[in-house]
Order: sequence, then structure tokens, then C-alpha cells
Amino acid sequence: MARTARVADLPSFGALDRGAGNLSRQIAEALRQAVREGHIRAGDALPSTRSLAASFQVARGTVIEAYEQLIAEGFLESNAGAGTRVAHTLNTPRAAVGGEAESRAVAEPGLPESAALFAQIAREFRPLEPIPFAISVPVGLTAPADVWRRLGNRLRARGPAAPTGYADPLGALPLREAIAAYVRKSRSVRCEADQVIVTSGTQQGLFLASRVLLGPRDQAWIENPAYRGVTAIMESLGYQQGMVRVPVDAEGLDVEAGMRMAPQARAAFVTPSHQYPLGMPLSMARRTALLAWARNSNAWVVEDDYDSELRYEGYPFPALQGLDPDRVVYLGTFSKILFPSLRLGYAVVPRNLIDAFCGARVLMDRHPPTADQHVLAAFIAEGHLERHIRKVRNVYAEHRVQLMKTLGELLPRELALIEPGDQGMHLVLWLAKQFDDHRVVERAARAGVAVRAVSPMFAPGTGRPGLVLGFGGFSREQMGDAARRLAGVIVGMGG
Ligand SMILES: Cc1ncc(COP(=O)(O)O)c(C=O)c1O
Repeated sequence: MARTARVADLPSFGALDRGAGNLSRQIAEALRQAVREGHIRAGDALPSTRSLAASFQVARGTVIEAYEQLIAEGFLESNAGAGTRVAHTLNTPRAAVGGEAESRAVAEPGLPESAALFAQIAREFRPLEPIPFAISVPVGLTAPADVWRRLGNRLRARGPAAPTGYADPLGALPLREAIAAYVRKSRSVRCEADQVIVTSGTQQGLFLASRVLLGPRDQAWIENPAYRGVTAIMESLGYQQGMVRVPVDAEGLDVEAGMRMAPQARAAFVTPSHQYPLGMPLSMARRTALLAWARNSNAWVVEDDYDSELRYEGYPFPALQGLDPDRVVYLGTFSKILFPSLRLGYAVVPRNLIDAFCGARVLMDRHPPTADQHVLAAFIAEGHLERHIRKVRNVYAEHRVQLMKTLGELLPRELALIEPGDQGMHLVLWLAKQFDDHRVVERAARAGVAVRAVSPMFAPGTGRPGLVLGFGGFSREQMGDAARRLAGVIVGMGG
């Protein structure tokens, strides 16, 4: 008698070896492998347990056991009435904007698991084309082009930005001084230049903070939903168990829930000025509670303050760091307010962590490239940054109103609804429950509109479909046209 049974309609499932023990484990591993190799993808529906059991020639309970195991691992998600699907957070290759074929190979069998994970992250983070509604696209009125070019020419040709040997891992002093003065004044951050570490953007700041603050068995609070840049770091460092997804409500992170779920966590990663992606600020009561918890349990708060300069109704909220500079690692970036390809940001760290951050940084990339640091230092010190912020704030405020109005008029409320917010460079458009936001992203891309799905930002099984829409430096005409095309896609799929 044959010892193996192939699954005819899903060849990537391979074969079961009936002499090799637990069949349910083999089925679970076959499913994991099929996802890793891209044969089945995030959001795909799986066959019913009955039909898979028939294909494998095993008892249905064996397949149910495998599905239950994978649901517990967050690999699959099960919704009443909608069957079992591959979790949306395991986002695998999708057609890129403009219909470009998937360009990178999935990890070959035989490569380490970490290689497959990183390859998947690369696909997920592939930049969007600079068309509406990609995020952080500075063009036209919102590009600092002329002044930036003039300063660059002046400083690169001679003086501090000219080529030198290895430099300070913490960054160029004139820039650290300019940043310290800027965040003290505009963000109520309490710091001196020696606490400022110039990073290559918040992504690096988040990575440094995770490396420095978390030991192998530590837990960390991560908002639910959260920026994929932080959850992907946790996954890549093997913190699947240690990543405690703390819910967010109208007041931001639910601190009491965090204390119930993981009172001994070593760090909390938060976006207090403008929760990402939902947009609400962390209330004062919650700020106080979060810092009290951190002090009492000797934990750290990592504050990702990615776009708080851009508040349109009233003044920006002050940073959490100012309330307790010894407990908070503050991360800022020039990606939103200037341009992301600059790759410059900063971490402001408590004094007793400066050396640790310095050491972690040296291992990562030694120090940031020197020339642009000096250009940026002059840009800030000579007052251009403040002028630029005043200018782009007005442009973005108009764009935001235009986008909300246009989409509000074009989209029936039962299909899509905008999450209100008064800051930043993006909006969340919630989609009705029947939508798969990955499929909407694909269809929108084919219609020439760049959007990102919201569901992967949630912990498995807790998400809802939606889209993140950036309203950066596009013209009114481009935005209006893209809004009409996007509405066409949504109405077409929802009707
Ligand atoms: C919430 C959040 N944090 C961090 C970042 C990363 O920014 P950076 O370009 O500085 O790495 C982004 C970028 O979109 C973001 O939205």
C-alpha cells in the first residue's frame, strides 16, 4: 500500500509520510511551507477541512487539529461564515503598482527560515510609485528644492561637508545641536545635544531601540494596530511571543489592558501624538498612566513622533518625552516634513542609554553619511526648516480637506468611511466588512492609484479592512482624478 497521499489540486502541499508520525503536524508544516514558497498567499481561502481531509485521505479531525494549531500561531485566521484563510499579516507578493510582475523570487527551499522572512518583508515594504495616494511624497510646492540645492552646493564644495575620515557614530555635532534646539522649542522635548543620535530615519531608531532595550525573553507592548515597520522588526528578531499587541481606543493605547496583558514588559512602543495608522492622540490620563507604569516596572517607553509637526486644527501636541525624559526614548524623522530619501532622523535618549545606542549603531552602519547632515544642520540653523513647515502645513491642510470632501461625496457610507483626524500626511479610509483590502489595493494599482492595506497593521484575527491614503505633494487635479478612480474601484467591488 502507498505510504503517501498527494493532494492533487494543491501540488505544493507535497506528500504525507504515514510512517513519520503525527499527520496533523505534517499538514500544518505543509501549509506553512506552501505560504513561505508563495503557492498560497495572505488572504487566500483554504479548502474546507472536509475536502482537505479527503484529499490527504486522513480523518477530518486531523486537518482540524492542523488548522487550529496554525490559527493559534497567527498563521491562519478563521471568521465565522467566511471559512479559514491565510492571515493577512503574512502579506506575500502582490502585483506592484502599474501591473509590474512580482519582481523578486520567493526564498528558495533550503534557504534559512529567516531568509524567507526577510524576503517577505522586502516585498511588503517595496516603495509605492510616487502617485496618489502614496505616503510622504514631496513634490511641487512641498519639496524644499531650491534652498536645499543652494546649501548643498555651498557645503559640499568646501568646509564641513567635504570628504573626511570616519566620523562620530552619534552624528555630526552641528546637526545634533540644531536638532536639540528644534525639538526643545517645537516639541517640548527636554534634552541637550549630547543625548541626540542622528539616525538614518525612524526605522533605524526603532531597530536600535529594540536591540538595546529588549533581551531574548523580554516582552514589549506594541499598539494594535501599529506601524508594520515596528511589528516586522519584532518578527525578524524572533519576538512573536514577546510582542504583546495592546488595543487602541479613542484615547490611544489602552494602558490598563497592557498592564493586564504583560505587566512585566520591558518596553512600550507608542505613537502618542498621532496614533499610527488611526490618528488619535494619547490622552493626558493615559500618558500619565503609561509613564507611571514604566517607572514602577523599570520599563522604557519608545515614542515614535513621526509627523506631529503637521497638526491642522490647533497646535501640535507636546511630546511624551517632556513629561519624563529619563524613561522615554524619543524618535523623530525628517522623512515626513522634508523628504524620505534624505534618510535622516534622530533618537533622543536618556543619558544612561547614550553609550548603548552608540555601540548598537556602530555595528549597524558606523555613522550616518556626513555631507547631508551638514546641509540639514544649516537648513535648520538658518531658519529654513521652520519656514518650510509653515508652508507645507498649509498645503497639506488643503489637501486633506479636499481629499475628505471628494471621497465623502463619491463613496456611499455603507461601503467606505473616512476616519476623522486632524494631523499628518495620511488618512484611513475604512472599508465595509465584505472587502478584502489586499484585493482593493491590487485593483487600485491596476487603475493607477497607490494605496496600502490597513488589515496587516492589526494583530491576526483582530483587523478590519481599510486603506491608508497619503495626500503628500500631489496637485489638486491628480488627487481629484485618483479619488474618482479609487471610488470607481471600491463601488465596483462592493456593488
Ligand atoms: C509611524 C511611522 N513610524 C516610522 C516611520 C519610518 O520613518 P523613516 O522614514 O524615518 O524611517 C514611518 C514612515 O512612514 C511611520 O509612518
